[in-house]
Amino acid sequence: MKIAIYPGSFDPVTKGHLDIIERSSKMVDKLIVGVLNNGSKNPLFTARERVEMLNEVTKNFNNVKVEAFSGLLVDFAKETNASIIIRGLRAITDFEYELQMAQTNRILKNDIDTVFLTTSLEYSYLSSSTVKEVARCNGDISKFLPEYIAKKVYDKFKKEC
Ligand code: PNS
Repeated sequence: MKIAIYPGSFDPVTKGHLDIIERSSKMVDKLIVGVLNNGSKNPLFTARERVEMLNEVTKNFNNVKVEAFSGLLVDFAKETNASIIIRGLRAITDFEYELQMAQTNRILKNDIDTVFLTTSLEYSYLSSSTVKEVARCNGDISKFLPEYIAKKVYDKFKKEC
C-alpha cells in the first residue's frame, strides 16, 4: 500500500492546498494530510480547528485522512507507514527552503522521499498568510478559500476585534 503525507500548517487550508490534495490523492492508496501542531508558531486556528476544517473540505476524498502531528515530520511519516512526503511548489522562491527541508529529511530517513507537485497556475501566488492579511483588512477572500473556510476566517477576526 502506497501511503503519502502532505504536511503543512494549513492556517487555514486554501484552494491551493486543496488542489494539491486532490491531485496527490490520485497518485497513492492513502494520503495523510499532516497538520503541524507547533507551539513555536502563533497560528490563527488551533490544530484541532485546522484538522476539523480540513476534514470538512476533504470529506469527498475517500483515501484522505487528516491528522495533527508535532515533532519531526520523518518520525510522523514512520509512525504512519508513509514513504512519500508531498509538497507543493509555487514559485522559485519556495525552492530553496523546500530543497533544504527535503534534503534534511532524506538524511534523517533515507527511505522516505519528497515528491513536489507544481501548484496549478491560478494558485501559484496564493498563501495562507496573504489570505489572512486580506481578511484582516476586511477584503474579499472568497476566491482563495472554500466558502466554509472563508466563513471561519471572518468569524475568527470578528472575535479578535
Ligand atoms: O506549510 P508550511 O507551514 O510551510 O509547513 C512546513 C512543514 C510542516 C512541512 C514543516 O515545518 C515541517 O515539516 N515541520 C516538521 C518539523 C520537521 O520535521 N522539521 C525538520 C525538517 S528539516
